[in-house]
Amino acid sequence: MAGSIKLGVLGSGSGSNMQAIIDAIESGDLHAEIVLVMSDYEDAYILERARRAGIRAEVIDCGGYKTKFPDERQAVVASRLRDAGVDIVCLAGFMRLVKRPLLDVFPDRILNIHPSLLPAYPGLMAWKQAVDAGAEESGCTVHYVDAGMDTGPIIMQARVPVLDGDDAASLHARIQVAEHGLYPKAIGQVAEELCLG
Ligand code: GAR
Repeated sequence: MAGSIKLGVLGSGSGSNMQAIIDAIESGDLHAEIVLVMSDYEDAYILERARRAGIRAEVIDCGGYKTKFPDERQAVVASRLRDAGVDIVCLAGFMRLVKRPLLDVFPDRILNIHPSLLPAYPGLMAWKQAVDAGAEESGCTVHYVDAGMDTGPIIMQARVPVLDGDDAASLHARIQVAEHGLYPKAIGQVAEELCLG
């Protein structure tokens, strides 16, 4: 694979993880380039962050569905990513399930960051699940995406203790600090393996 690895990022929210990837690229810690950012919400801040960084930002049309990601829309996203020359797709707070139309185009090349030590607490608001369960420890996981929900092979994890007095918001804030260090590192490892492979 010649040149630097090209990343596509999908996100639904603030995009702080994407920002961490941008920062790692700019500081030289991650040898990659983000070529396309896509969001299922036109007013998601991740799109604004991308534009400010001079990265192409596009809205995913999910056909008006709130949580569903119809197959034909996934196929459109796959084409956009492929046309942009994307090598690795990074889900960064993307809140819809990715299925075959995307998985088939990017086999073993779609990564996700999840705010727990998987397999514990898959699904929504994992940080709240950890607090509600009285866990002493949580963390974050970068994993390959398969057709399940937060089930694909784990690439890297970081542990975060649950402190006395933590509520869901304070735990999530500390998990996010860990995420911002973990995701660029995990992407770098996968990129290196792809280049060697
Ligand atoms: C992150 O904490 C990420 O782990 C989580 O959404 C947040 C997005 O924040 N993702 C999931 O829960 C996926 N199951 P960001 O938009 O600031 O990166």
